[in-house]
Amino acid sequence: MSDGHIFQAVFPLPDMGATTRLGARIASHLRPGDTVALSGDLGAGKTTLARAILTSLGVAENVPSPTFTLVQSYETSKLSVSHYDLYRLKSAREMEELGLEEALDTGAALIEWPERAETRLPQDRLMVELSAEGDGRRAALSGPARWRELLND
Ligand SMILES: Nc1ncnc2c1ncn2[C@@H]1O[C@H](COP(=O)(O)OP(=O)(O)OP(=O)(O)O)[C@@H](O)[C@H]1O
Ligand SMILES: [Mg+2]
Repeated sequence: MSDGHIFQAVFPLPDMGATTRLGARIASHLRPGDTVALSGDLGAGKTTLARAILTSLGVAENVPSPTFTLVQSYETSKLSVSHYDLYRLKSAREMEELGLEEALDTGAALIEWPERAETRLPQDRLMVELSAEGDGRRAALSGPARWRELLND
């Protein structure tokens, strides 16, 4: 049987600390070849969660939002991670210039505004849909079955 999109879970993120903890959980299960798609409106908390993942992996430097560069890559002791922000992608075809396949050969990708890439993202991505909930946020996750590991932490 294929590794279908049968993992689904909702994580309430009432404050920044909850986002930091979810980032650490995702980071601890992240492997080379993984794509994490972070979707949600402006200000939904995509960059905050990407930063939490990178910080948990030991990235000590500031993590800028790659709004204009579209991609920023990091080396960590566990794996390399490429952080994309596709908000300013001009067309889905421009994805071909951003080296996603190469990045996934050796590392993982965190992708804000994944819908801008249309069909040009791996099917087996973990999808994280962020939205406002009260003063905080919530994250609805879905993806391949192996991400069920997140629930064991
Ligand atoms: N769990 C949370 N609870 C409360 N506030 C949060 C939470 N997560 C993020 N925020 C706040 O939301 C604001 C916007 O977050 P962020 O920049 O991560 O959004 P974004 O989705 O990346 O937006 P954009 O689409 O503009 O890049 C930040 O000021 C951050 O402090
Ligand atoms: Mg952002």
